[in-house]
Amino acid sequence: MDNKTKKSTFSSQFGFVMAAAGSAVGVGNLWRFPYLAAKDGGGLFILIYLVLVLTFGFALLVSDIAIGRKTKKSAIYAYAEMNKKWSALGVVTFLVPVLIMTYYAVIGGWITKYLTVYLTGASEAAAEDGYFTSFISSPVSPVVFALLFMGLTALIVYNGVEKGIERVSKFIMPILIVIVIIIAVFSLTLTNTDNIGITRTGLQGLMFYLKPSLEGITPRRFLQILLDAMSQLFFSLSVSMGIMITYGSYVKPQVNLSKSINQIEFFDTCVALLSGMMIIPAVYVFSGTEGMSAGPSLMFVSLPKVFHAMGKAGIFIGAAFFLMAAFATLTSCISVLESIVANCMALFHASRKRVTLVLTIIYMAASAVITLGYSIFYLEVTLPNGTVGQLLDIMDYISNSVMMPFISLFSCILIGWVVGSKWISDEMESSGHPFKRKKIVQYHD
Ligand code: PFF
Repeated sequence: MDNKTKKSTFSSQFGFVMAAAGSAVGVGNLWRFPYLAAKDGGGLFILIYLVLVLTFGFALLVSDIAIGRKTKKSAIYAYAEMNKKWSALGVVTFLVPVLIMTYYAVIGGWITKYLTVYLTGASEAAAEDGYFTSFISSPVSPVVFALLFMGLTALIVYNGVEKGIERVSKFIMPILIVIVIIIAVFSLTLTNTDNIGITRTGLQGLMFYLKPSLEGITPRRFLQILLDAMSQLFFSLSVSMGIMITYGSYVKPQVNLSKSINQIEFFDTCVALLSGMMIIPAVYVFSGTEGMSAGPSLMFVSLPKVFHAMGKAGIFIGAAFFLMAAFATLTSCISVLESIVANCMALFHASRKRVTLVLTIIYMAASAVITLGYSIFYLEVTLPNGTVGQLLDIMDYISNSVMMPFISLFSCILIGWVVGSKWISDEMESSGHPFKRKKIVQYHD
């Protein structure tokens, strides 16, 4: 094999687990999971989510990673190898990260901006009303931060699987988990009396988070919670978007896949649960449950107010929080770019360095355009789910709400009925290690 086509690999099982967990752990764990848990009956949502992770999520992650390792290819060619007639599914799967990449560095840029705000002691301003809106709608600063984030991501991917992605993930992920644990424990110690004399404590907030609430539960509401948990699962595990296929293709034949996948799921779920423990009690103590708003406003509007209410400690906690969020977003962003790079290297028979450079230029331009969707290119589009969105939301909606459910449905048909689930479980057992939860994937024989 020449240098251009030589297959990259993760050097160790630990490196693979950290890189895959790095992709899975992102803003989805940090703001989406806590927000959904607060909205959907606390412990009830958590319980449903856990059941789904252990069954459905496990099957999806197993499929993606096994497809990658068995074919040693990224989405486009992996699906073609499974069945020639299903090549189009590979192309659609490849297009998901292509779309996500247009806006992921934009969010990374926002987080980096907030990190600099806390590190430079300007956190008071961030707690003021309108700060976030005025930042994202300015025409220069958010573009600079997005380009910076994109550049850093590209630099790591440029350095390759082992020397770039694996090395950075092995360094970042352990630090990330330590920071989440520290802030979560700190959150539980909080207590505050508001101006009408009501005292709320972190432990009460924890109860609100963990206690299953069956209030107002109807079959319809239960279904809604189930759907929320399901969409969170796809997003959080980075499945059905070809990313885990690419990472799977870098795993050596002797690696115990079953054990690695358990560890990736465990890592991702722990960070989601700990994020809830960190955010819900803190917001509850200082803003009551009303502070638990959806989307970016939880992270960029509610939390800065909570950090401000903590006084001096809030500056440190805020800086630690945004450092961790920047780490989490960086490792996810790397995985998105890597899967595009891997597919393009195969498509164009080109070297990693050349492909990365070209894609960096393209995505720097795309990130700038999406960022300017809040200023120069501002538009309002009503999405099919009734929300009004800007450019970023449109990209997010097409990739996450339209393409991903479509891909997972068709992947299930392909694996279940065309190639057969044995194809997957054979790969899981190919290293000689037992595939303990085989029945979840291969239930009929
Ligand atoms: N899994 C990431 C999270 O939970 O935040 C989100 C994500 C990463 C989505 C990478 C898409 C992606 F390509």
